[in-house]
Amino acid sequence: FLHKLVLGIETSCDDTAAAVVDETGNVLGEAIHSQTEVHLKTGGIVPPVAQQLHRENIQRIVQEALSTSKVSPSELSAIATTVKPGLALSLGVGLSFSLQLVDQLKKPFIPIHHMEAHALTIRLLNKVEFPFLVLLISGGHCLLALVRGVSDFLLLGKSLDIAPGDMLDKVARRLSLIKHPECSTMSGGKAIEHLAKQGNKLHFDFKPPMQRAKNCDFSFTGLQHVIDKIITQKEKEEGIQKGQILSSAAHIAAAVQHTTACHIAKRTHRAILFCKQRDLLSQSNAVLVVSGGVASNLYIRKALEIVTNATQCTLLCPPPKLCTDNGIMIAWNGVERLRAGLGILHNTEGIRYEPK
Ligand code: KG4
Ligand code: ZN
Repeated sequence: FLHKLVLGIETSCDDTAAAVVDETGNVLGEAIHSQTEVHLKTGGIVPPVAQQLHRENIQRIVQEALSTSKVSPSELSAIATTVKPGLALSLGVGLSFSLQLVDQLKKPFIPIHHMEAHALTIRLLNKVEFPFLVLLISGGHCLLALVRGVSDFLLLGKSLDIAPGDMLDKVARRLSLIKHPECSTMSGGKAIEHLAKQGNKLHFDFKPPMQRAKNCDFSFTGLQHVIDKIITQKEKEEGIQKGQILSSAAHIAAAVQHTTACHIAKRTHRAILFCKQRDLLSQSNAVLVVSGGVASNLYIRKALEIVTNATQCTLLCPPPKLCTDNGIMIAWNGVERLRAGLGILHNTEGIRYEPK
């Protein structure tokens, strides 16, 4: 008895990733190459650099995923690849490579929406039935959606400007945390979480954004600018130069993390109430799935736990490895689509990359 086997390929941002997953959610093989270190040095992702790194690694990563899985390419049921949303140049590398492979192996192709893949990841691990609520928070994503089926999403809220991880990365950069001996190899968000443990969140009083907005949208640039001003002011007070680390950096980290957690928790609370009032979610055993790089922040998770406890919801988070970009979620999304008979292409002629 042969299970369906899907090869998943992800290159939407700064990770080149691939995996082979079977119909039951077994991960047979996986490989990932992260560009984080390179991008940390340039203070952000430079798209042509990301593209070049994807080009240099994709062959090896896909090969590694296949060889560790011990699945021969001819046994694959389909190839699933992220086609949107993401950086155009990065997506193009994964798509071109996949189309070549699809052509060579004569396999069906399943184009994957990166957000759908993040949202469905939890079903690889837990028996979560539709509908459930999903909160995606990362460096590039910020959205709240009701997941009603494999490709049936009701968008409830999104960031009106930048994503929370992007904001945390910018604050971390502004605080020069990359020069901090304890944080030099961490992403901005992780550095903030680490430093926040040594700070007092009450030292600064940042107001959570959009307190009166009667929707489930998010906003983070206002907070970022307020923090920017505080940092400039503190730099003057402490008489330090740009690039040096403020003595109050830990307090700032604690306060920004706290305000971010409050904002995210409040918007999520609204979404849960909205869905329950309209019977879009079960009254007694609704599920909130939280994913994306920022979901690995334990302080933010605690804030969300308070909300789910108060609303009789179950909070589920995929493990950190599956919260951030990876090939497994793309392959799994391929499995979900294969099982549902959705969006499987047997002819890829004329497919080109379309941004967004
Ligand atoms: O999902 P991800 O790997 O990539 C995308 O952005 O799609 O998420 C990376 C983001 C970065 O902005 C990073 O600063 C943030 O997630 N992040 C965190 C933590 N770990 C990573 N933010 C807050 N706390 C963390 N522990
Ligand atoms: Zn992502």
